[in-house]
Amino acid sequence: MTSTPSFTAVILRLLIIQGVSLAIRITRLEVPASLAVGEGGWLVCEWADEGDHVYSLKWYFGIYEFYRWTPLETPSVRIFPVPYFDVDPQQSHRGRVLIHNLTEAAGGNYRCEVSGEAPVFKTSSDSALLIVVDLPDEQPRIIEDGVGPYRLQQLITVNCTSHGARPAPNLTFYINDESVDPTWDSRELVFVNETSGLETAVKSLQFLLRLTMVQLDGLQVKCVASIPEMYWLSSETTLSVELPHNYSHLFGSQGSVSYSSSQKTATHTPLLSTLVFLASRLLW
Ligand SMILES: *[C@@H]1O[C@H](CO)[C@@H](O)[C@H](O)[C@H]1NC(C)=O
Ligand SMILES: *[C@@H]1O[C@H](CO)[C@@H](O)[C@H](O)[C@H]1NC(C)=O
Ligand SMILES: *[C@@H]1O[C@H](CO)[C@@H](O)[C@H](O)[C@H]1NC(C)=O
Ligand SMILES: *[C@@H]1O[C@H](CO)[C@@H](O)[C@H](O)[C@H]1NC(C)=O
Ligand SMILES: *[C@@H]1O[C@H](CO)[C@@H](O)[C@H](O)[C@H]1NC(C)=O
Repeated sequence: MTSTPSFTAVILRLLIIQGVSLAIRITRLEVPASLAVGEGGWLVCEWADEGDHVYSLKWYFGIYEFYRWTPLETPSVRIFPVPYFDVDPQQSHRGRVLIHNLTEAAGGNYRCEVSGEAPVFKTSSDSALLIVVDLPDEQPRIIEDGVGPYRLQQLITVNCTSHGARPAPNLTFYINDESVDPTWDSRELVFVNETSGLETAVKSLQFLLRLTMVQLDGLQVKCVASIPEMYWLSSETTLSVELPHNYSHLFGSQGSVSYSSSQKTATHTPLLSTLVFLASRLLW
């Protein structure tokens, strides 16, 4: 479809010839902040053609151009394969590009570059960082540094590890579903496997066993491995506790209270245990 240039278009051409700059300006750039290996997402680049028109729009990953839209050419979209991800040729159009099948190496800078028409080819570009996360292979693992049943005032040490991720997730401990005193857990240590490049995170929890921590079914320790907005997985274990004989009636059972240790993933009902505990205290 052709049309005779409008009066304003003619004026604009004259202005270009006069050296008055017309602009083409990127108004919005959207790149997902983080994606997991194997996932994909939309890259969005929008512009305002302030008197100018788009001659070409290009997307770069680092120095590699992987997508080009030239509205005056046929076909208008061209895709240049890169080894780090796939581009969806059906759904990508104009400045919107759908990438898929991200590899670990797809993390980095994504840049959109928009150029105006001849003779000036004014260019505007903007870029954003995409972080590619390799999620852990398995749920975190809790290891007791000792053997129960534990006694009151005994120092208990528990480790939590999460394997095979990058970056390593944050590890957070809970005792009976409540946050722990910040002085009880260690700094998180991260070990890198030189072969795979993946990281293992380890954190220790150390505390003195107190009566208020003991519930009907023992002492529950939970470890949560999390990567904000992407990943959340937890494990929990019940530590066995042995109370002196004169404490046992607090829990309404006979003789010494001894609980077996077991790793489990289902959550139980700490509220009920607490209620039973409080009720028996009141009665006593
Ligand atoms: C992603 O990879 C799968 C398997 O290799 C392939 O079938 C699919 O076409 C790829 N996606 C894109 C958009 O290329
Ligand atoms: C617990 O982790 C610490 C490092 O934080 C380590 O020195 C210790 O050997 C670990 N203990 C167990 C039982 O894994
Ligand atoms: C490091 O990763 C390689 C390959 O994934 C694996 O075979 C090896 O057992 C790992 N080493 C350690 C110390 O975990
Ligand atoms: C861990 O948590 C800290 C702050 O709580 C945060 O700055 C950091 O990004 C988190 N790291 C990961 C891998 O989740
Ligand atoms: C149990 O006995 C110990 C001394 O053997 C005492 O200190 C403690 O207060 C007693 N506790 C209860 C709940 O009776």
